Amino acid sequence: MTLPPFANEPILELRRAEARATLVEGLEWLEERLPIRVPIWIGEERGAAEGLESTDPGDPDRMVATAGRATAADAARAVETAQRGFRDWSARPATERAEALVRAAAWLRERRPKVAALAMRECAKPWGEADADVCEAIDFLEYYARGAIELDRDPPLLQVPGERNAMRWRPRGVVAVIAPWNFPVAIPCGMTAAALVTGNAAILKPAEQSPGCALPIVEALRAGGVPPDALALLPGEGDAGAALVRHRGVHTIAFTGSAAVGLEILRSASKVADGQRHLKRVIAEMGGKNCVIVDSDADLDDAVPAIVQSAFVYAGQKCSAAARVLAHEAVADQLVERLAGAVDVLEAGPADAFETDVPAVIERAARDRVLRYQERAAQDGTIAARAEPVPDRGWYCPPTLAVDLDPGSPVLAEEVFGPLLTVERVASIEEASERVDELPFALTGGLFSRDPATVQRVAAHSPVGNLYVNRAITGAMVGRQPFGGNRLSGTGTKAGGPAYLLQFVEPHVVTENTVRHGLVVE
Ligand SMILES: NC(=O)c1ccc[n+]([C@@H]2O[C@H](COP(=O)([O-])OP(=O)(O)OC[C@H]3O[C@@H](n4cnc5c(N)ncnc54)[C@H](O)[C@@H]3O)[C@@H](O)[C@H]2O)c1
Repeated sequence: MTLPPFANEPILELRRAEARATLVEGLEWLEERLPIRVPIWIGEERGAAEGLESTDPGDPDRMVATAGRATAADAARAVETAQRGFRDWSARPATERAEALVRAAAWLRERRPKVAALAMRECAKPWGEADADVCEAIDFLEYYARGAIELDRDPPLLQVPGERNAMRWRPRGVVAVIAPWNFPVAIPCGMTAAALVTGNAAILKPAEQSPGCALPIVEALRAGGVPPDALALLPGEGDAGAALVRHRGVHTIAFTGSAAVGLEILRSASKVADGQRHLKRVIAEMGGKNCVIVDSDADLDDAVPAIVQSAFVYAGQKCSAAARVLAHEAVADQLVERLAGAVDVLEAGPADAFETDVPAVIERAARDRVLRYQERAAQDGTIAARAEPVPDRGWYCPPTLAVDLDPGSPVLAEEVFGPLLTVERVASIEEASERVDELPFALTGGLFSRDPATVQRVAAHSPVGNLYVNRAITGAMVGRQPFGGNRLSGTGTKAGGPAYLLQFVEPHVVTENTVRHGLVVE
């Protein structure tokens, strides 16, 4: 099979009326079907679709999905089925598995506005973000399909006379995919696709806030040709994820989510249960506290819109979102004044309104947490801008800019995951870099500078997984910006990059003495 070179799925140009109309049509199609029903789906058996409900964060009276709520017994059944599915699926040629992903990508492409509408409703993703989420899912399918074919080629080893060496990458077994809600289509799709295309069986446990968005992923992959036993859907709460992690039949855990849960998974997976004959591997992509450094020579016309976009798009609920700005004292006052002006005019509103800048956050608990951090920022510093009022239905938080916080404030150290940005004043780029280096998180970072030497110096010492220079720090593209964090932000495996699939396989080397002393001929 020869596939054309990978190219990113082009996102919709929402300035065009026809592009907007396709999304509105997708929403009309969806609204007639709400709430969608998401079963516990193991093998051919579609089980319960009750026990869990997801609602529209911008209008919590609107139910988006009802889903099954998997128990530990369901998790065990899913693992047993996946073990059976693994035997057949792992024996298929890599090209066949890759073809299944490419067909799944086509399935999603055909339904793109409908799936985007679902992400918009279930997770309050503004239209542009919702469309990009589906595009990224398609990108993961296409990119990993090509990657698996590449990985299937025997890596060259040194050969000497009388000896033949060969190395193959083989799948590990059953992969538990445990996903967050903030990229409800792209992230679960990417992790599941990587697990499957390398020959593993996968069990997808989506976030409890977004079971609806997981359904089209499993439908797409099964329609593409992944056998039912090789891919299960296990909607549920954290306890369903924990049951999968504990199960001795699970070989790999692909997790994206908060640092607290990721660390708990790492601890739990390190225990070897009675009868378990393998070590579990954990791929963990976790949270961040992402800083943008603004040097004295930065072009503020570039920096201001890029920082506002990085901090407030999708209400600051991207793992890559900007949380702290470290501004050189020569430009700090001017930068704060301009950022405050830009934050003041941000429009908080429903995700389906094309003019909305900042939607609701995902749920009541998230709204309460963000408001607590915003109050703390007011106590520990000064609020420079706060875009009020915000709609009173739904989980809205006013986009807020806080400055001059006490250096010991928890607001500067903890992941807020909401529309709150802080600005600190630094005397030099070195001081800014030190503050970045003090953090336990190292996911994304930004730098605005017009001096190539500064850019080189900061890039050489920055601990973050993804550093963006003179641009926004969100919006990594598959194949262009392999994405993932270091330190407590993750195992640094870089989704959408050339090495990602290696996490899902293990190497086997066969060495044969080719100096034969006679041949056995039957
Ligand atoms: N580094 C990245 O690439 C990346 C990408 C997206 C989101 N994130 C991070 O994800 C977080 C937001 O997502 P979230 O709120 O869904 O995170 P979360 O950690 O609360 O939940 C993630 C998933 O883990 C499950 N879970 C909860 N407790 C569990 C347990 N004890 N054992 C197993 N599974 C368990 C949840 O049900 C959910 O499916 C933020 O911290 C964000 O930075 C990181």
